[in-house]
Amino acid sequence: MCGIMGCVGPASSDAANTVYKGLKKLEYRGYDSAGIAVTDGNAVNVVKKKGAVEKLLPSLAGLNGNIAIGHTRWATHGKPSDANAHPHRSGGVCIVHNGIIENYAELREELSSLGETFYSETDSEVVAVLFRRNYRGDLLRALAETVKLLKGSYALMVICAGEQKIAAAKYKSPLIIGYGDDGKNYCASDEPALADKCKIMTVLGDGCFALISADNVEIYDGGLRPVTAKKVPLTAVSAELSLNGCSHYMLKELREVPVSVKNTVSAFSGVESKLKEAFKNVSRVIITGCGTAYHAGLIGKRYLERFAGIPTEVQTAGEFRYTEPLINENTLVLAISQSGETADTVEAARLSLAKGAKVVAVTNSAYSELTRLATVTVPVAAGPEICVAATKSYTGQIAALYLIAATICDESVKTNILGNINCVPELCKQVIENININTLAHMCAKSRGVYFMGRDLDYAVAREASLKLKEVSYIPSEGYAAGELKHGTLALIDRKTVSVVLITDKELAEKSANAVEQVLARKGKAAVITCVKEVAENFEGRAEIVLLPKCDKFLAPFIASSAVQYLAYRTAVLRRKNPDKPRNLAKSVTVE
Ligand code: F6R
Repeated sequence: MCGIMGCVGPASSDAANTVYKGLKKLEYRGYDSAGIAVTDGNAVNVVKKKGAVEKLLPSLAGLNGNIAIGHTRWATHGKPSDANAHPHRSGGVCIVHNGIIENYAELREELSSLGETFYSETDSEVVAVLFRRNYRGDLLRALAETVKLLKGSYALMVICAGEQKIAAAKYKSPLIIGYGDDGKNYCASDEPALADKCKIMTVLGDGCFALISADNVEIYDGGLRPVTAKKVPLTAVSAELSLNGCSHYMLKELREVPVSVKNTVSAFSGVESKLKEAFKNVSRVIITGCGTAYHAGLIGKRYLERFAGIPTEVQTAGEFRYTEPLINENTLVLAISQSGETADTVEAARLSLAKGAKVVAVTNSAYSELTRLATVTVPVAAGPEICVAATKSYTGQIAALYLIAATICDESVKTNILGNINCVPELCKQVIENININTLAHMCAKSRGVYFMGRDLDYAVAREASLKLKEVSYIPSEGYAAGELKHGTLALIDRKTVSVVLITDKELAEKSANAVEQVLARKGKAAVITCVKEVAENFEGRAEIVLLPKCDKFLAPFIASSAVQYLAYRTAVLRRKNPDKPRNLAKSVTVE
């Protein structure tokens, strides 16, 4: 959610061009507007435009200077427009901000009464004005005095006429400092912006500040005491961020599902013993996450209860925090998040820790806020995911949850369960490479609404199928329990709707098949996604059939998810939508 990047190079280097290229790699964080501010230590110049980062390209030639900050925006306060685009300027000061300033209205009113003028509808512009008023030749002090007045979350970068440094501050929004191999130093909201530029970085802590110049980086704690920066490897590399011959990142990342599962299984051994320790004396598990991560949690609940016999609840993180959850030291909270930065999930973890629970993070992001907080982190080794819609990270999350449940279950069943997961990469590969989903994608693309349903694990996958389809194709969709069809949703079924029934468990096949019959009886279009040959035969000629490879029922969510995510992709492409950048959405939702 909003990508930011800064660069400080030696005198006469071209910082704007570098920041432009970095912002292009951060567009998954927002693509409503973009802007860059540049200085050579004297005047500050700004270019900002509504729309994607590319819109800045024609103006880059006029942005000369060795110090630049840039922003790609996901609008929260104020519509996407040139005026609301960052950087925001006040006199010789320019700022970029990721986060939300919750008390901006009060600050704006107060500053207006002091004669200040505002040019945007954003919450961020107050920061530029406050900084300018606080600046008396000392960047660090001015920034510290400014953030003291802010409520909310921020990753901030400031440049100022007459200064040869970028000043940065962070609270609850991610910020990394990169040490360049090229005589430059950098700052960014996340790693892809700095891929191939830096091999090491510092993850700035909450409440900390940084002063970045071409040959030096100074880090300060909240009391403005200098601290020794902890340096860690920066892992993003450009090769992994390329499309690799695919038309979209969503397709590329679906093709990487097998590797995501394989690498997550390999990485798991490193945390097994810590995990066992964390589960000691645990009588109850609460799984939390948002969107697709929550859907992975629905599957995880089933694994934990079936394999390990631990009562498990699943709650969306945005709800969890407001339900006065009954948590104590015998509760373990499993917080799932691709980015590890989703504000609701991070706050749910924080609340759980405060109530004495242990928190196990399941995340794709080793240096995220969630990782920092968690008692133990189980890595999802999906690699960078650029498409806004989660695919391979979700499958990696399911693999991690499967392994967690298998680790803490009885030794007698463990070997079998653990052995099974090794088949998953090949099964997913077969599905992604061979599945014939085109007819169903055409049916969905032309429909007025698509309803996914299933029982037990298929129900969890139906929820994910629906989210993915609406997110990338904008077709109204719902995912629900097959048994619920006759309790209301049946009223929506007609010739213009498509109902997709997932049937991967032979034991539930008969019951779920009833749902298909009910749809057909109401003249709805029906499709069946199944691993059960008899089901396919039963509906041949009456419904569209997508046959999946036969597998253990607890592994079926991996292949069924790959199938429905691929269906969403194909449908979006048929409708000429860009699945990588769905309208109104951004990848990391760092605001509540
Ligand atoms: C949907 C999607 C979102 C995310 C959700 C949580 O395709 O990607 O629903 O799953 O925003 O994000 P993370 O996992 O980063 O916490």
